[in-house]
Amino acid sequence: MGVAVPRRYISIEDLATARGVDPAKYTLGLGAREMAVAEPGEDTVALAALAAKRALDATGHRELGMLVVGTETGVDHSKPVASYVHGLLGLPTTMRVFDTQHACYGGTAGVMAAMEWIASGAAAGRAALVVCSDIARYGMRTAGEPTQGAGAVAMVIAQDPAMLELDVGISGAASTHVHDFWRPLGQREAQVDGHYSMQCYTEALATAYRGWKTRAIARELVRGDGLASEQLAQICYHVPFCKMARKAHVQVRQCDASDAGIADTDAAVAASFTQQVEPSLSACSRVGNIYTGSLYLALLGALDIGGRALAGKRVGMFSYGSGCTSEFFSGVVGARAADMVERAQLAGVLADRERITIDEYERIMTLVTPMGQPGPFLFTGVAEHRREYARG
Ligand code: HMG
Repeated sequence: MGVAVPRRYISIEDLATARGVDPAKYTLGLGAREMAVAEPGEDTVALAALAAKRALDATGHRELGMLVVGTETGVDHSKPVASYVHGLLGLPTTMRVFDTQHACYGGTAGVMAAMEWIASGAAAGRAALVVCSDIARYGMRTAGEPTQGAGAVAMVIAQDPAMLELDVGISGAASTHVHDFWRPLGQREAQVDGHYSMQCYTEALATAYRGWKTRAIARELVRGDGLASEQLAQICYHVPFCKMARKAHVQVRQCDASDAGIADTDAAVAASFTQQVEPSLSACSRVGNIYTGSLYLALLGALDIGGRALAGKRVGMFSYGSGCTSEFFSGVVGARAADMVERAQLAGVLADRERITIDEYERIMTLVTPMGQPGPFLFTGVAEHRREYARG
């Protein structure tokens, strides 16, 4: 895996103070600490290219047959972000290159396509590069403002996984046509029905989780008695804001308790949240919502904290994309996971950022042209209707 975040962030407490809100609402109520702020030069392509380069560098050279970018912040109606990334990284011409879109689920669509391509044998030994890259914007002084963020996570998906071996063919899916969150063409900021979106998320989770559980029990990956979710060493959820993962975990426990006819207690739910979910939230709480990449940032965070102790253990993952579609799936942590996580240098990437004031954040939010500062990959502007990028 490789990760890229904008070089600037704000403290969520500074934002609360500037908005006249009790900081505890954002820190305890939403579970946020810091929020990434992308300037126009750090667009979806620039973040995706940097994360992809880091993933390729970390995993070593591989023969690639597929590049997929999952994004809901595309830069063109026709030319995919993946096409720009392909060019910026100088990847081989003999490969499939495309974007996938369904709100925050887009990256998981890429992961599933890559996994099933490999499992089918069609990949014939080649690997896939899947990148999740997004910029989450609700606008200043909106209820969604403290849940913005930006970043990219890239993954090399191959036959011989070092970090995580995905369980093929047992995921559970849930989709319904709803308007919980969407972004009409031409609008920079998302439309959202915030409280309804949380209800859509938890309802989809219940269906997707039960779909996964039925197949996992049938394949004897988990036992049918008791609380099936407790047999997962970690559960990583899509993290639009950290408190949502807590609500998600309560939902999963309720499904388990009701399916097994067992009475759960608040203390048991809290203890399982601390052990099974909280480690995944440390990085997310410092970046904010990165849409397609949020689940995978949570996974990287969980592996980063869990280290070698997680090797050989099964983790659950829930991907949710508003609109909506979702999937619960699982995988077993690889013996070399801790080494691979170390190569992703998550702590270093987060430490290598600059904290800015709320005044500076507000100025950046109104910019449409790049600030023109050097960076590894940067959007520099449009000439003859073509987006141009620089490599630092
Ligand atoms: P809000 O309505 O202003 O906040 O915005 P609230 O009044 O619901 O309060 C939030 C929490 O803070 C509550 O906790 C309050 O009790 C607590 P809860 O009861 O829910 O556990 N609180 C306090 N705690 C401590 N001290 C205080 C205090 N005051 C209140 N003083 C909302 C919240 C999430 C609605 C808003 O930020 C929003 O609209 N965000 C964007 C939508 C979103 O993130 N939805 C999540 C589910 S949909 C999804 O995940 C998909 C998505 O990623 C997009 C995609 O798929 O592409 C969004």
